[in-house]
Formats: sequence, C-alpha cells, structure tokens
Amino acid sequence: MKLIKKLLIASAISSLAIIGASANDSLVKKGEKIFMTKKLGNCIACHAIEGKSLDGPGSLGPKLMALQYWPDEALYNKIYDPYTTNPISAMPAFGKNGWLSDGEIKALVAYLKTIK
Ligand code: HEC
Repeated sequence: MKLIKKLLIASAISSLAIIGASANDSLVKKGEKIFMTKKLGNCIACHAIEGKSLDGPGSLGPKLMALQYWPDEALYNKIYDPYTTNPISAMPAFGKNGWLSDGEIKALVAYLKTIK
C-alpha cells in the first residue's frame, strides 16, 4: 500500500516536471517569434543571432551570443530600457516605450538564454 502511494506521488511529480519543461519551450518559441517579427520586437533588424541575420542594415547592433551568462534581470532591463546601461545606445527602449509588454520581454529573455 505504502509503495503504491509513493509511486503515485512520484508520477505526479514527474508529470509536473514535464508540464514545466513544455511551458518553458513555448515561452522560448514565443520569444523567438517576437525577435524575428517585424511588427513585434524586430530585433533581427539590428542583431544577427546564431546564423540568422537580415540583409541590409542588420549590423547596427552587435551579434547576440553567450547571453546565457547574463542574469535574467540584466537582460530584461537591457530590453526594457538600454539607456540605463548605455546612455547613447542606438537600441530603442522597448519596454519603456510601451512597444512590448512585460510578458513579451520575459519571453524574449527565455529565448535569448537559449542561443549560443
Ligand atoms: C535599432 C537597432 C536595434 C534594435 C531594433 C534592437 N537593438 Fe539591441 N542593441 C542595439 C545596439 C546598437 C546595441 C549595442 C549598444 C548597447 O549595448 O546599448 C544593442 C545591444 C543589445 C544587447 C546587449 C548585447 C551585448 O552583448 O552587450 C541585447 C541583449 C539586445 N540588444 C537585445 C535586443 C532585443 C531583444 C531586441 C528586440 C526587442 C533588440 N535588441 C532590438 C541595437 C538594436
């Protein structure tokens, strides 16, 4: 009886872990879409990323890489308002300007942390 109970608890916990992982996957996908879509973040217009870039201006911002070493909060703040770390940044303040919501910026952070 005890064993069955333990097994039940174990399977409940592991199914929770699976739900957690897929929720993060969809957040990453959402972030990637915002990054690539002109009407959303349009980050790809200025930033090359993991082999993807646009022809044309495309090089205004640095190629984005190794962002997994940034704390989530630093990445969030960079997207929210780059002027706090760089007063002459050419990057627009997506959060402060009201172009991207809190949830959209969090999705971008999740996506950016997956790129090499
Ligand atoms: C108009 C061009 C432009 C757009 C659009 C733009 N950026 Fe930037 N970005 C820059 C420039 C220029 C820098 C370098 C100066 C600085 O750090 O502020 C930068 C820096 C960054 C950095 C810091 C990179 C590093 O290694 O220091 C991150 C992260 C970043 N941008 C993310 C984004 C995201 C996410 C988006 C889309 C929501 C975006 N950027 C859209 C121009 C742009």
